[in-house]
Amino acid sequence: MWKLLANQWALVTGASSGLGEEFARQLASRGMHLVLVARRQDMMEKLAAELHLQHGTRCQVISADLSDPAEPKRVLDEIAAREITIELLVNNAGFGIVGEVGNVDLDRSLEMIRLNVSALTELTYRLLPGMLERGRGAILNVSSLSAFQPVAYMGVYAASKAFVLHFSEALHCELKDRGITVTAVCPGVTRTSFFDIAGASGWLQKHASHPVDFVVKRAFKALSRRQQYTVPGWRNYLLTLLVRIASRRRVVKESTRFFRPRRKEDPALKATKPR
Ligand SMILES: NC(=O)c1ccc[n+]([C@@H]2O[C@H](COP(=O)([O-])OP(=O)(O)OC[C@H]3O[C@@H](n4cnc5c(N)ncnc54)[C@H](OP(=O)(O)O)[C@@H]3O)[C@@H](O)[C@H]2O)c1
Repeated sequence: MWKLLANQWALVTGASSGLGEEFARQLASRGMHLVLVARRQDMMEKLAAELHLQHGTRCQVISADLSDPAEPKRVLDEIAAREITIELLVNNAGFGIVGEVGNVDLDRSLEMIRLNVSALTELTYRLLPGMLERGRGAILNVSSLSAFQPVAYMGVYAASKAFVLHFSEALHCELKDRGITVTAVCPGVTRTSFFDIAGASGWLQKHASHPVDFVVKRAFKALSRRQQYTVPGWRNYLLTLLVRIASRRRVVKESTRFFRPRRKEDPALKATKPR
């Protein structure tokens, strides 16, 4: 697969940091040219210059807020105007929110759904016709370990990632005999700025985590094996099996241990007694 993709173009969303930056690095080292998309143009320009110097990668940087419903199409129109054909789409941009219902900002939650769900769906559906016409193409969707179960205090995020997993698996089944591979990668805790942005600073330091290069290598291995999904790390994979055999009630109850806000920190929450 990588031989076929060398010198072809990949579109990586959320390429300004974390997993997206690492996807870009590993794709460049495999000889692919890159369209980098996120909001922070300066970070992507820096990465593009570095990858060009290291690997001779041709990079196009497009700054876009993909939670804006007009932006996915605008990004693809720009790519078409530059006469670039995308052979690999890495739908990675996303964020999470940790917090108790009532305290979580509704607008920010809707923004998360537009980014994690709508933009991913739109980019996929808009690029698929071209891939189908050519009879080849690959799509890697970044889901999460949280896709396998409801997660209390992170409900919308976990549901958005369940969407990504189910959508990807359905597409995988529909498209595998038509030359197109769709794989979902479901990382557990990974060392990025994700938890700081989600409002759970310090969480990463207290839990076992994987480095980004490990997760990205596993993701590409699964993609090249044309796997439906992958869960990097055997402990995380075991967790997904446990979730399948435990009762749904038990599973969601267990999830409260992770993100339940500490009452002492927020006087407004003291009034509601945790069960
Ligand atoms: N880290 C983990 O433990 C973990 C676990 C499971 C799944 N994931 C998933 O991995 C993916 C990457 O996250 P990460 O861990 O690498 O976190 P990260 O370092 O915070 O990266 C998030 C990326 O998404 C981009 N992004 C955020 N909002 C955007 C918007 N409105 N429009 C365009 N781009 C936007 C960010 O760029 P800008 O800020 O420049 O826009 C950044 O490049 C996410 O889908 C996340 O849900 C992470």
